[in-house]
Amino acid sequence: MNRISTKLAAYFFIVVLIMESFLIFYLHQNIIQTRTEEEFSQLLASGSNHRDVLIGHYSDITMKHIVLMEKGEEREVVITDSNGNVTNSSDEEIISLKETLSLLKDNYPTTDTILISDWEENPYIVSAHPYISDTGNTGYVVMFQSTRSIEQLVSELNMHFGMAGGTSVVVLFIIYFGLSKILTRPLIRMKEATEKLSEGDFDVSLPFIGKDELGELSGSIQKLANDLERLKTERNEFLASIAHELSTPLTYLIGYTKVAMRKEVSEKERENYLAIIAEESERMKELVKNLLDLAKMDENTFTVSKDYFGARPFLEDIFQLVEHSFELKGLQLNLVCEENVQLYADSLRLEQIVLNLLDNSLKYSKENTTVTLKVYKKEEKTIISVIDFGIGIPADELGFIFEKLYRVEKSRSRSFGGSGIGLAVVKELVEAHGGSIEVKSVVGEGSTFTVTI
Ligand SMILES: Nc1ncnc2c1ncn2[C@@H]1O[C@H](COP(=O)(O)OP(=O)(O)OP(=O)(O)O)[C@@H](O)[C@H]1O
Ligand SMILES: [Mg+2]
Repeated sequence: MNRISTKLAAYFFIVVLIMESFLIFYLHQNIIQTRTEEEFSQLLASGSNHRDVLIGHYSDITMKHIVLMEKGEEREVVITDSNGNVTNSSDEEIISLKETLSLLKDNYPTTDTILISDWEENPYIVSAHPYISDTGNTGYVVMFQSTRSIEQLVSELNMHFGMAGGTSVVVLFIIYFGLSKILTRPLIRMKEATEKLSEGDFDVSLPFIGKDELGELSGSIQKLANDLERLKTERNEFLASIAHELSTPLTYLIGYTKVAMRKEVSEKERENYLAIIAEESERMKELVKNLLDLAKMDENTFTVSKDYFGARPFLEDIFQLVEHSFELKGLQLNLVCEENVQLYADSLRLEQIVLNLLDNSLKYSKENTTVTLKVYKKEEKTIISVIDFGIGIPADELGFIFEKLYRVEKSRSRSFGGSGIGLAVVKELVEAHGGSIEVKSVVGEGSTFTVTI
């Protein structure tokens, strides 16, 4: 009884059984009642017919004629005098004759009457028709109708209804097997799939079974499995990338530390090595900080606290921070922002966003080009664009640059010293502000990053 199809089939069976029983009972009763009423009225009609003939032409010959007319299998007639004694009869041996005559003597009916109506218990239904002839003779015409035809009808009805009942049981079984195919099998498959998922095996393949609720459930489980599989692969790739990212500077650190420890190394060289070690350590620290930020953002434990502040002073502060690096590379940095533009954001996080974008422009720009930072309002939103004329990004890579640890041409980024985390952090930060980021870029011509918040 644990299968849903068995339960459904059982409920279905009970409901159909109750409905069918009511229907069969109603039809059975109705058909039989109609048929018996028909028999009664036919019997009364032919009885009163005979009586009318007898009244009109009362004689022995008429009686014999009447008796002769009813000589047959199904119907009998008996004519009595006023005391209930038989004068003529179509069959001397009628089974219920005695009983009928005593009933007649008990009642002496004065109108046409059904004397025996209980067709289930008696071999005949009986009607009595009193007569008074022109000559003053009185008595009864008594009609007997065999109940055999009604019984036959009942047994035929029983057989038909029995067959209908049997057929419905067969149909129910077919429905049961159909249901178990349509309902139970996909459910069992889904149960097995979820068990597999809970054991960490995400290699699940559920067939398409339509667009109904079961199909949707199956589709959702399949999507969950695919997502889990993808997450698992992404996590592994991410861990491998992190390990790689950390091991490269560590190799440098160990190498330079060993060299710096050598006794024969001059003081100046040692200072040089220590400076490299400090620089690499800084980079590692930065990378780890970014990774931690990303982890926080992924866990949704990261919050932004927005506030209103003027765009210009905010951007000028950032300018002061980066100006020197841009000058060193011979890049011209422009700021386009009207005086009264107000920003509504988390200023620390927004600074991180702008610094990351400027850092990229600085890293990936050719010497003696310009980088423009443009901030303006458009329909209640603030647009922040960083436009450079740098090396650009190939079109087929544009879709991936916001992924964690993704770098365009690994060798290229290594020479620029990036780790591929910056834009992933920027994207998360922008989204945490409820905004979006877009990029347009042409290789060799430059890139434009546009943040809308
Ligand atoms: N302005 C740009 N011009 C050309 N390529 C860019 C620009 N900005 C980003 N990219 C490309 O997108 C990649 C991803 O950028 P992202 O800022 O995430 O990483 P990164 O700069 O390499 O390292 P990180 O920012 O973590 O130090 C970069 O490796 C670079 O190839
Ligand atoms: Mg970067």
